[in-house]
Amino acid sequence: MDKKIILITGATDGIGKETATTLAKQGHHIIVHGRNEKKAQDVAAEIKRITGNDEIEIAIADLLSFKAIKTMADGLCQKHDHLDILINNAGAVFSKDLVLTEDGEERTFQLNAYAPFLLTHLLLPLLQKSPSARVIFESSAAHGVSRKPDFNDMKCEKKYDAQGNYCLSKLYVIWVMQHFAKYLAEKNIGNITMNATHPGMVMTKFGQNEKKGFIVDLIYSISYKLGLGDTIEDGAKSEIYLATSSEVEKITGKFYSNKCKLEIPKQKHYSEENEKAIWDYCMKICKPFMGEYK
Ligand SMILES: NC(=O)c1ccc[n+]([C@@H]2O[C@H](COP(=O)([O-])OP(=O)(O)OC[C@H]3O[C@@H](n4cnc5c(N)ncnc54)[C@H](OP(=O)(O)O)[C@@H]3O)[C@@H](O)[C@H]2O)c1
Repeated sequence: MDKKIILITGATDGIGKETATTLAKQGHHIIVHGRNEKKAQDVAAEIKRITGNDEIEIAIADLLSFKAIKTMADGLCQKHDHLDILINNAGAVFSKDLVLTEDGEERTFQLNAYAPFLLTHLLLPLLQKSPSARVIFESSAAHGVSRKPDFNDMKCEKKYDAQGNYCLSKLYVIWVMQHFAKYLAEKNIGNITMNATHPGMVMTKFGQNEKKGFIVDLIYSISYKLGLGDTIEDGAKSEIYLATSSEVEKITGKFYSNKCKLEIPKQKHYSEENEKAIWDYCMKICKPFMGEYK
């Protein structure tokens, strides 16, 4: 693959950091996104040292803030003339207490689904300038055990639980990705593909420091301590595959397993209406921060 400009969100730790390092080794220009500038600088320096690739830059935004996402995206649009690959990797599961963001949204939904929606929209002008661009959304197999969506309770006033919201957010991000592929087709934007994946159960710090409830915490900590999951190297493989493999060059709107196999996402709660409902909700809340692509 020729040298690409690649932005990876949440590249300061875990799977995103591994993906950034591997793609840097392949000689690409890497934009390490982080929310903490010092940590991002340290990771960029480490990647340069390990790989010998000097084309590593950083971009900073707390993805729990629509304003911060817009500021970062505007900066990238000014600095670069195109973007080839966007990997929406950052994500988290939060604690058992319901917390709304500064934008008034439930934070699991905002970080894992609304933030990739907004960032991808804001970077469309740059992605359109690539001869062949790809956007990857990191979902999770957890989408398959999601509760039924309630589009009348998006702020979770009636129902919130940490793990349940995580599962639902990962279902929403698949639907956002699928709808994005249709949206691009409607707009005759043919140079950008959109796909989602699941990394496996991966031994990162993911979820280890959040109090999600006794049983859920126990499962997370026992799996971590016993090393029951996949290595971080294995966890990064499906993102890297979707970002670089010629096998998926023309594929769009699909979901891939952690073994890089095409899969149908779980259909239990799927309907075209539901897919459109989450898209419309993202559009409504993100509209004040969006540019020409509304
Ligand atoms: N690990 C698993 O078993 C597993 C399974 C299924 C899906 N996933 C998904 O895989 C992705 C990566 O997870 P991981 O295991 O690598 O987790 P991780 O080790 O906790 O890394 C998460 C990354 O996201 C960043 N991040 C978190 N909140 C952010 C915010 N508000 N603004 C900006 N960046 C933020 C973190 O930044 P800091 O470095 O500042 O903390 C870090 O770089 C996530 O989307 C996760 O849901 C993971």
